[in-house]
Amino acid sequence: MQSPTPLLPHLVMNMAMTLDGKVSTIDRTGAVFTSHHDKQRMAQIRARADALIMGATTVAIDTPRMLINTPELRQSRTQHGKPEQPIRVILSATGSLRPDARPFSSNASPILVFASNSTPKEWRTSIETAVRPSNGRLFIMGEDRVPLRTMLEILYSEYQVRSAVCEGGPTLNFFMFQEELVDELYLTIAPLIFGGASAKTPVDGPGFSEDLTRHATLKSTEVVGDEVYLHYHISRAHEKEERK
Ligand SMILES: NC(=O)c1ccc[n+]([C@@H]2O[C@H](COP(=O)([O-])OP(=O)(O)OC[C@H]3O[C@@H](n4cnc5c(N)ncnc54)[C@H](OP(=O)(O)O)[C@@H]3O)[C@@H](O)[C@H]2O)c1
Repeated sequence: MQSPTPLLPHLVMNMAMTLDGKVSTIDRTGAVFTSHHDKQRMAQIRARADALIMGATTVAIDTPRMLINTPELRQSRTQHGKPEQPIRVILSATGSLRPDARPFSSNASPILVFASNSTPKEWRTSIETAVRPSNGRLFIMGEDRVPLRTMLEILYSEYQVRSAVCEGGPTLNFFMFQEELVDELYLTIAPLIFGGASAKTPVDGPGFSEDLTRHATLKSTEVVGDEVYLHYHISRAHEKEERK
């Protein structure tokens, strides 16, 4: 008898880009370039999730605390039986995540770091020390990269995570799409042009060949001022086959 397929949290990706499809400027600044309204939407999407996931570079560059700042949203979570803050999850392949990175300055929710076997031993010791006060944990798995499906299975089975939001960055997003883990995409288009051939786009990484491109179905659009908010359902491979 086949063992049942392990369960995964519902994964929502949330990103913002400029009119020319960039998520930051050429010098990697400008991650905060959307309106107050967009930030409120972002907080609402975050507040619906049990876990918030980010890549090590976004944590280093954008210095987020990875928390919900709005008291009303925190209160609404507790009224619905959830903890005030989502679990924070950070991915690191080589160990670029610093033990004094901003999320570690708060113990408001557990910080789980998932890293690959190629991380140095001393780094692991320092991260284990950094996650401890938040009741967090360091997981080591995969040779050069963390298998994201396994990571999500652990979040589901050991931490009761039923919904997660991935807020990038573009490298992590690619691997999420590659492993077919993304269920929904929220994409904000801001009325700016950053330019720059090497400026990052919402999904970077090695990229897909034409036969492997991912498909999406538009769920809703909203316009507020000069900003556009798009919401997509992401198709799985079998859904693509059915469409042919
Ligand atoms: N506009 C937006 O909505 C938005 C959102 C997020 C980020 N950004 C921007 O995006 C830029 C950063 O993006 P990025 O693509 O360079 O970085 P990123 O995706 O945030 O982080 C990449 C790093 O995450 C780790 N990682 C990713 N996938 C992994 C896996 N499967 N297993 C283990 N570790 C994994 C690796 O860490 P190691 O380096 O430790 O190996 C990798 O180098 C910044 O400029 C930021 O401002 C914009």
